[in-house]
Amino acid sequence: YRMSAQQMLKVFVTRRIPQEGMKILQKAGMCNLSVWDSDEPVPRAELLKGVAGAHGLLCLLSDKIDAEVLYAAGPNLKVISTLSVGFDHLAINEIKKRGIRVGYTPDVLTDATAELTVALLLATCRRLPEGVEEVKNGGWSTWKPLWLCGYGLSGSTVGVIGLGRIGLAIARQLKPFGVKRLLYTGRQPKPQAQEMDGEYGKKRQEISDFVVVSCSLTPDTQGLCDKTFFCKMKKTSIFINTSRGAVVNQEDLFGALSSGQIAAAGLDVTTPEPLPTDHPLLTLKNCVVLPHIGSATYSTRGVMSELTANNLLAGLTSSEMPSELKL
Ligand code: NDP
Ligand code: DGY
Repeated sequence: YRMSAQQMLKVFVTRRIPQEGMKILQKAGMCNLSVWDSDEPVPRAELLKGVAGAHGLLCLLSDKIDAEVLYAAGPNLKVISTLSVGFDHLAINEIKKRGIRVGYTPDVLTDATAELTVALLLATCRRLPEGVEEVKNGGWSTWKPLWLCGYGLSGSTVGVIGLGRIGLAIARQLKPFGVKRLLYTGRQPKPQAQEMDGEYGKKRQEISDFVVVSCSLTPDTQGLCDKTFFCKMKKTSIFINTSRGAVVNQEDLFGALSSGQIAAAGLDVTTPEPLPTDHPLLTLKNCVVLPHIGSATYSTRGVMSELTANNLLAGLTSSEMPSELKL
């Protein structure tokens, strides 16, 4: 059954998204789709314009969805579906107040993101970008006993900040490298940690060789990794963040890296994104920065797009969402 033009529900999509999701939206035959047809983020003014009167909003983590956007959308708005598992860009209280439902993409990106975290950790602790650079710039003169040495995982202690879906997957993927102890922090102990003899506790960075941040960004975790935090880490330890940039105080991280307080850092997320090319962190050899590519495999992004579209349709038709964020 096809809807008449008047019955069609207005949907604003804030970016070009993988075709898997677009096909689902088009096939549904109930959406009057308006797409910000670009690979770049929608400018704020266009977002405010595009969302006016919309029943559904499909957004990305680069779109800040706050009271102003909700006001601009008006009372039709039933559902916001974000192409991400992180939802710190959504003003949840404002959304909840208006009875709007939210869809997101947990689980489908867990393995890809954990794998990227492991790749970043290894690249950082074994100094891969530095090595690649030396090969290209002629710095490789001969095999030298202590040249480009780093720190390995075998026999190490790994501390995970936030043992959620991704944190747990990271721990599982790291274990076969010979990790001896797994420590983790969080709001409460996780039964799933038992399979790896995970030890729960606060402030465990003192004894960790690797500190891996995989928590969500909340008022509690904002700026969690600051000077006090880094001062407690070992001088030989490695810091990895694939959660959100704002969990880290970047000035304090720069201080810790440049003073030798910690050995190295690998970041997939920064504030802001993109990180300006003249940012002090980029002058450091012991800091590896990636452009937020945790979930970036073709198949994962395709599945995320599908799930985002299906969440949106379920919201529009008031049916059960494949992945609804409980507000
Ligand atoms: P989960 O909700 O499963 O995990 C988040 C974890 O953070 C939970 O275990 C939560 O604990 C924990 N947490 C909350 N507050 C604190 C705190 N104060 N201290 C320590 N831990 C805390 O989400 P996912 O694992 O699916 O995703 C985690 C985050 O990873 C996302 O929110 C997103 O920001 C980021 N991400 C980044 C990607 C990238 O491309 N780099 C890709 C995908 C996600 P509790 O269970 O007790 O609430
Ligand atoms: C998310 O989903 O929150 C990531 O940051 C991108 O996949």
